[in-house]
Amino acid sequence: MSIEVIILAAGQGSRMKSELPKVLHAIAGKPMVKHVIDTVKTLDCSAIHVVVGHGADAVKNAVTDEVTWALQEQQLGTGHAVAQALPNVSDDSTVLILYGDVPLTSRDTLSSLVQHVNERTLALLTVNLDDPTGYGRIIRDQPGFVKAIVEQKDATPDQLEIKETNTGILAVKAHHLKKWLPLLSNSNAQGEYYLTDIIAMAVGDAMEIMVAQPSSEQEVQGVNNRLQLATLERWHQLRIADQLMTDGVTLADPARVDVRGTVKTGTDNFIDVNCVFIGEVTLGNHVQIGPNCLIKDATIGDDVVIEANTIIDSSEIGNACTIGPFARVRPGTVMAEKAKIGNFVETKKTIVGAGSKINHLSYVGDAVLGQHVNVGAGTITCNYDGVNKFKTTIGHGVFVGSNSSLVAPVTIGDYATLGAGSVITKTVETEQLAIARGKQRNIDGWQRPVKKQDN
Ligand code: UD1
Ligand code: CA
Repeated sequence: MSIEVIILAAGQGSRMKSELPKVLHAIAGKPMVKHVIDTVKTLDCSAIHVVVGHGADAVKNAVTDEVTWALQEQQLGTGHAVAQALPNVSDDSTVLILYGDVPLTSRDTLSSLVQHVNERTLALLTVNLDDPTGYGRIIRDQPGFVKAIVEQKDATPDQLEIKETNTGILAVKAHHLKKWLPLLSNSNAQGEYYLTDIIAMAVGDAMEIMVAQPSSEQEVQGVNNRLQLATLERWHQLRIADQLMTDGVTLADPARVDVRGTVKTGTDNFIDVNCVFIGEVTLGNHVQIGPNCLIKDATIGDDVVIEANTIIDSSEIGNACTIGPFARVRPGTVMAEKAKIGNFVETKKTIVGAGSKINHLSYVGDAVLGQHVNVGAGTITCNYDGVNKFKTTIGHGVFVGSNSSLVAPVTIGDYATLGAGSVITKTVETEQLAIARGKQRNIDGWQRPVKKQDN
């Protein structure tokens, strides 16, 4: 069975009060329409068609996946929107209709829905809501077969009592849609071409409406305003937190961890409150992460301790390293095992050898440190001359005295010692001591200045 997906994403979303098209607003750091695309990609579909209208260019720019675009210049209704994509769909495909502002429908729900489709059936995803206000109602006959969908604004008082509602998501063979859509009329309360009217048409063609339901309401929840966006975000984050705990992570508070991407994790890890994970993060075993940390696109080894308020971006942290509190580990930092980066230390494009320590108040960029190097407090690699970046190479066992400046390009040999406060501009050979600072002068009988008298 070949599946083609049509995603409706032409609406303005005026209740978002935003310059950004609604479907580009993010859940877990990813545009809603991208969630839909990523889910359907796991369904093995042969084509994805996206119907755009309001903010079409912005949506096209934001979506880099291989999709077919259809333009709906005027939003004349959901039936009209589907019709814009239909010429690109082959007749024998099963069409699955989804919405760019309904981001969290699961793969399982969609795959069981499309399995209900054959030549004589239409598969419809419905949901029972305590408060069905605003949604299309599912009309069933006496034996319980679905006969039609009636929109809120067209419903009779009796029909408004019905709790079973239309999610909008349905699947049916393309050639049926191609026959029905041209027959839609807009003589209804909203003057729109309703996609929902095809249900009665299918019944008229003696087809059966097969109903599936999602495992939770939130899976089919659409987003119309920022409150709904936030509600869905929290639901989604709690599910991710559940998964992390299931995978063997202790969370100080499952409601206070945010994952915008994926966290692959080992076991016996602890994550304190207010940590944010972005992109692809991998955690080993026995990792401890303190409160308020931001970890992005990073690999963290076993037994690593990350203290409070640490930022790690695009870096690799080896086993048994300790980082922070208040460290900023910038892209390209690679820490070998048992290395230490302490408070108020910034690193960038730097390899820190096994057992090496940069414990306090330093900037180390474009550098390679050997093993068991000790970088004293306040050390700076002067890696930038205002135009170009240069590299600092530090051998094994080097002792860098506090408040040193290493003016790159510069190389420090193994077991060299740099005196505190030095400005190092030239190569230091193995085991040498380099001191590059003003000599101390002590002046006897120094008179301190005295306060001037006012005239
Ligand atoms: C629709 C359904 C309703 C269902 C509800 C679920 C119809 C007629 N009604 O109602 O039964 O309960 O969804 O949320 O289908 N869109 C376009 N082009 C258009 C019109 C809409 O792309 O011309 C897109 C919108 O951007 C939106 C989606 O389709 O993402 C739904 O449209 P909307 O007008 O919000 O339909 P509802 O009135 O909510
Ligand atoms: Ca809607």
